[in-house]
Amino acid sequence: MTAPLSAAVRNRPPPVIAERVIEVRDLTKRYGPMIVHEHLDFEVRRGEIVSVVGGSGSGKTSLIRQILGLEAPTSGTIEVFGRDTSTIDEATVRVMRSRMGMLFQQGALFSSMSVFDNIAQPIRELGRVPAPLLQDIVMLKLEMVGLPCKHASKMPAALSGGMIKRVGIARALALEPELLFLDEPTAGLDPQASEDFVELIATLHRALDLTVVMVTHDLDTMTALSTRVAVIADRRVLVAAPIEDAAAVDHPFIREFFLGRRGRRALQALPPERRARLPAAALASASAEVQI
Ligand SMILES: Nc1ncnc2c1ncn2[C@@H]1O[C@H](COP(=O)(O)OP(=O)(O)OP(=O)(O)O)[C@@H](O)[C@H]1O
Ligand SMILES: [Mg+2]
Repeated sequence: MTAPLSAAVRNRPPPVIAERVIEVRDLTKRYGPMIVHEHLDFEVRRGEIVSVVGGSGSGKTSLIRQILGLEAPTSGTIEVFGRDTSTIDEATVRVMRSRMGMLFQQGALFSSMSVFDNIAQPIRELGRVPAPLLQDIVMLKLEMVGLPCKHASKMPAALSGGMIKRVGIARALALEPELLFLDEPTAGLDPQASEDFVELIATLHRALDLTVVMVTHDLDTMTALSTRVAVIADRRVLVAAPIEDAAAVDHPFIREFFLGRRGRRALQALPPERRARLPAAALASASAEVQI
């Protein structure tokens, strides 16, 4: 479905990895007595696709919500596009939000609105846009995510899981952000829909020079897309590195996640020169249980 755009950018190099666009320093986040993050550091550079992984409840969504400014850190600093998010005024916050698109883990779409209205919503929030222009923008976004225009009038309940995620991406891209956040984008999708989704993100990354931060449990998606993977464990980012380097860190979560049977199988998809740098335990046959 994404064939025209993906064919057009196939020979285009991926975005050049450049300056820092997100810098989180010494972040602590508490909810009541519970400490979710403690002395957490995290950074993302322009052009990267960073996967954030960690156990359920380790604070992945919370970290993204703090970077987006939807929640305040308990202490520490978060800079986005070089601006400290705790000290900027309302008007700057609005501008910064328009430079960031988000596909939420839950409730990717408003169920009471058509596909068209879902995609148009962030644009309408900005102010009045002439109807013909809005129509063109929404149709362009639909085309960008590989959905035919005829779906514009449908309600979310009439769409498949994969189509809902695509419309969610179209909405996240409505304001042409530089930074795209995806929270569990392939959860609940069948393997084919997940593969199509990976191709869509790879295509959009090249076509739009996007920087992507993606929370995922899906090892195949992580392996196919990430320039680096950030592992959250023990309330902080334990390591943020290319997959082959992260997999070599000695930690129980990393052993279980990367070096278990599913992890080892997914890592086989790395190109040979990167696979060669994996720790020996990752190269053991994926059909045998790893000996630790
Ligand atoms: N607004 C909130 N109020 C109270 N506790 C919260 C709030 N948001 C998150 N938490 C708690 O903080 C912890 C981290 O939550 P978060 O949603 O970030 O986890 P996660 O890593 O995204 O997990 P999952 O993989 O299940 O999505 C959890 O224990 C959660 O219950
Ligand atoms: Mg979450």
